[in-house]
This record gives sequence, structure tokens and C-alpha cells, in this order.
Amino acid sequence: MQLAWLNGEWTPLEAARISPLDRGFLFGDGVYEVIPVYRRRLFAFGPHLERLKHSLGATGIANPHTDEEWRRLCETLIERHPWDDQFIYLQVTRGVQPKRDHLPDDCLVPTVFAYTSELKPVDEAILKKGIRCITAEDIRWQRCDIKAITLLPNVMLKMQARAAGADDAILIRNGLVSEGTASNVMIVEGDRLSTPPLDHALLGGITRQILLQVAREAGLEVREEAITEKRLAQADEIWLTSSTKEALPVVVLNGEPVGTGIPGPIWQRLRQAFHAAREQWMEQNHE
Ligand SMILES: Cc1ncc(COP(=O)(O)O)c(C=O)c1O
Repeated sequence: MQLAWLNGEWTPLEAARISPLDRGFLFGDGVYEVIPVYRRRLFAFGPHLERLKHSLGATGIANPHTDEEWRRLCETLIERHPWDDQFIYLQVTRGVQPKRDHLPDDCLVPTVFAYTSELKPVDEAILKKGIRCITAEDIRWQRCDIKAITLLPNVMLKMQARAAGADDAILIRNGLVSEGTASNVMIVEGDRLSTPPLDHALLGGITRQILLQVAREAGLEVREEAITEKRLAQADEIWLTSSTKEALPVVVLNGEPVGTGIPGPIWQRLRQAFHAAREQWMEQNHE
């Protein structure tokens, strides 16, 4: 049975209930985090926790737990579920407020919700074939560095991609690539790997951070720099990166082939190097 942790109590996931007066429900006033687990161990827990604290700090939501309590909660979730590979979802909202008001009361108690699911590897058939993307205007807010639960634009953009017969959308703001609807974007030009620099326009992806390091160690030239829509269209390879999907090769952009139209050689190489680095990291960090 899938269990949820809700405000200090364990309940079956389907039985978990929150008040409709929760500010997360009424205002989307909350943040979340997704942490992958491999062979029953947390992967890159430190960076994920730092990002959660960044999201809480930036929104002024009180952090309800110490680092050690967060870790314990995640480890208990792993222990209480059967899967070797999991992804843990943590959500903190500003809490329940009796009177609906944009301005939060001072003494709210944050709502903490956590559960875990089985993490299945991306289908081999999808990895072999690659995915299709469109570009779309980035209609989101200006603080995409915060992992906010307010995901309506991301939902609409993903629906827009599907309506266009594509799998996902790569978002463009002022002519520059920001990220995917739930991923970061990387491009390969020759043996150079580029990705947009961290700022308020995009989420600081943990997979992004690790892949850039792996790419540097593999001898690739790595650049964190602005990428124009034109450069994106001319790239040899495009990848979407995230914790649950790792790196997905994009083979069609706006109906045109990316590079040779099949998942590229640098992606193949980096994917293997990423897996090797992850194994090594987990051995060394015992996370
Ligand atoms: C908007 C957005 N950007 C980037 C990412 C990638 O982040 P990470 O690699 O930490 O999963 C995500 C992950 O869900 C996301 O939602």
C-alpha cells in the first residue's frame, strides 16, 4: 500500500485529505521537491534539500523541519515501500488560513505532504527513437528558480505540445531558451555542450548540475550561456534533463529533424558516463 505523510501522520495515500482552506489549494501558495532513489538510497539528497530550502526561503514559507528530520522522513518513506528505485515527492504549503486573504496570517503552520512512487526507467523504445518537441513562448512568471506548486502554465504548455502532435515544449523567453515544461535544456554543437545559465528564468536542475560536471570530466567543452532560438534549431543534439527522466534526446523540433534526426552520439556517451558517475557518487556519499 502506498503511504503518505501528511502533517506528521502516516495515512494510506488515497485517504490523505487537506482542508480546502489550505493556501496551497486556494492560491497555489506552496513549493515542492522531487528526489530520486536508487537501490533504496537517496540520490543527491543534499542538493535537493538545498533547493527546497531555497524555494521556502524565497517564498517566505517557514521551513517546518530540520535537515535531519527531512532526511529521516525520506528514509522512512523508502523503508515503508517495496521498490528499489523510487521518486519521493515533498510538498510544503503555507498552511490553512480560516479567512481567504492574499496576505498570509503571521502564525500559519505549514502543511507538509510527502509520498513516494516507483521510479521506472524511461522506456527503451522512447530512448531509441527520441522525442519530438515544439518551441513555445514561455508564459510563466519571473521566478522560475523557485520550485513552486503553481504549475498552470506548465500544464497549458504541455497540452499545447500535445495538441501540436509533440511530446513536450521547449520554452522561449525574449528569443532565448529557458527550459522545458518539467526539465532543463542542453544542446550539443560539435563537441561543445551548452545550457542556459542559472537565473530567475529557470529552475536550477540537479540533473543539469550533475550532467555538466560529468560532461566536463568527459572532456567536453561546457558552456553555461544564453541560447537563441536560432541556435537551438541548428544544434546537433538537444536534450531535456530531469531527475525522473535523466537526459531525453529530442530528435524533432517544430517538425524538423534535430541533427541527423536520431539520438546523438554525445548523448549516448554522456548517458553512460552519467550512470557511472551516479554509481560512484552513491558509493562515496552513502546517500
Ligand atoms: C521546470 C523544471 N525545470 C527543470 C527541472 C529539472 O530539475 P531536476 O533535474 O532537479 O529534476 C524540473 C524538474 O521537474 C522542472 O520541473
